[in-house]
Amino acid sequence: MKKVEAIIRPEKFEELKMALTENGFVSMTVQDVRGRGTQGGIERQWRGRSYKVDLLPKIKIFIVAKDQEVERLIGIIRDSVYTGGIGDGKIFVYPVDKAITVRTGVVEEGVQ
Ligand SMILES: Nc1ncnc2c1ncn2[C@@H]1O[C@H](COP(=O)(O)OP(=O)(O)OP(=O)(O)O)[C@@H](O)[C@H]1O
Ligand SMILES: [Mg+2]
Repeated sequence: MKKVEAIIRPEKFEELKMALTENGFVSMTVQDVRGRGTQGGIERQWRGRSYKVDLLPKIKIFIVAKDQEVERLIGIIRDSVYTGGIGDGKIFVYPVDKAITVRTGVVEEGVQ
């Protein structure tokens, strides 16, 4: 199993959630976060002065998926959130040892 974590533009979240649901990825965890990538934020203008906003609002979403579903999941995320502009987001993939469903005690582990 892998944890697929995507940090995306907030305005793209609803579209992504719909695409994930349609493609069978129903379970997810979502957080409002702030972040910066390689540009270190953006310059904004206000009353003729420029200032730096270094931590921009983003949405972080994570999904734990079977190894063989990871590439399809990454494809769905990219198709949904891509604009081609800087700041489109980043996807991280981590190994997951196990997942335990509290209600049933079912344990999922290893390569699933
Ligand atoms: N190396 C990193 N470590 C932790 N978080 C990161 C990293 N890179 C990006 N992020 C997170 O992802 C968000 C989106 O990053 P962003 O899309 O700006 O990536 P980028 O690498 O700068 O690519 P681009 O040049 O397309 O903007 C950031 O606001 C930050 O929250
Ligand atoms: Mg960036």
